[in-house]
Amino acid sequence: MVNTITGQNPAGRGGATVGGSAVDALHVVHAFVSHRKPLPVLDDVSVSVEPGQFVSLIGPSGCGKSTLLRLIAGLDTPIRGEIYADGHRVDGPDPSRGVVFQDPTLLPWLTVEQNIGLGPQVRGAADRKDEQERVEEMIEMVGLGGFRTAYPSELSGGMAQRAALARALANRPRILLLDEPLGKLDALTRSVLQREIADLWQAQGFTGIMVTHDVEEALLLSDRVVIFSPRPARVIADLPVELDRPRAQDDPAFRDLRRRILDLLGQ
Ligand SMILES: Nc1ncnc2c1ncn2[C@@H]1O[C@H](COP(=O)(O)OP(=O)(O)OP(=O)(O)O)[C@@H](O)[C@H]1O
Ligand SMILES: [Mg+2]
Repeated sequence: MVNTITGQNPAGRGGATVGGSAVDALHVVHAFVSHRKPLPVLDDVSVSVEPGQFVSLIGPSGCGKSTLLRLIAGLDTPIRGEIYADGHRVDGPDPSRGVVFQDPTLLPWLTVEQNIGLGPQVRGAADRKDEQERVEEMIEMVGLGGFRTAYPSELSGGMAQRAALARALANRPRILLLDEPLGKLDALTRSVLQREIADLWQAQGFTGIMVTHDVEEALLLSDRVVIFSPRPARVIADLPVELDRPRAQDDPAFRDLRRRILDLLGQ
C-alpha cells in the first residue's frame, strides 16, 4: 500500500517498523462516542514527516487536528491505522516527543526554572550536570534569564508560553508537537514568538508538527502545510512551502500560497 502523502511504501521500509521518517501516521482512523453515538474524527489520515522538517496542520475547527497530534504524542491510541515515530510504533508518551499546548500548563507552585527543569526532575536526572546545563541553556534561549525565580502567575502570556517551549525543549525532543501554541496571544506577541519558534527550530534541529488556524503563521514557519477537510478529517492537500527563510508576508509568492490555502479551506 502506497502512502498517499510521501508516495513511499511503508511495507517496503521494514514491515513492523518504518524507517527514514521522523513520523509516519498511516491510514489512521479515529472516533469518539458522543451522546451514545459514534463520532468519526479521522478518516484514513496518512501524514509522514521527514526528520528535521517543520509541518503545519490546518483545517476547520473541530475537524480532528488536536486528536491527530494527541495520537502522535501517544496520549491516545487510534482505532485503526498505525503511527510510528523514529521508526518505532507509538504506544504511549515518550520524552523524545515534546508537546506544547495552547495553554502553557505550567505548575503554579514551581518557579520558571523548576518548571523548565521538570522533565529531568521526573526522569531522576536533575542532578546531572549536562541536564542542568541544558535547562540553563533553554532558559537563556527563550529569553527568561531574568525570571528564573518568578512564578507562573508573575509572567505575561508570551513569557509563560516561552517557558512551556523551553520546558519541552529541555528534554531534547527529536519531535516537537505544537497545538496552537500561540493561539491565545495578542498579535504582536504572536509575531515575535513566531520568529522565536523559527529560530529555535533552526538552532535545535527538531522535527516540528504544529496545529494552527493561522495560514500566515503556517507559511512563516513550515516546509509543508497539510490541509484537512471538515470532520471526519481527511487530508485534502499537502503543499510544500518552497520559500527562502526568513519569510516575508508581502512576498507575492507567499501571498499566492496564502490565497491557495484559504481557497482550499473555502475561506
Ligand atoms: N475526548 C473526547 N471525547 C469525545 N469527543 C471528543 C474528544 N476529543 C475531541 N472530541 C471531538 O472530536 C472532534 C475533533 O476534535 P479536535 O479537538 O481534534 O478538533 P480540532 O481540529 O483540534 O479543533 P479546533 O481547531 O477547534 O481545536 C470534535 O468534534 C470534538 O468534540
Ligand atoms: Mg484543536
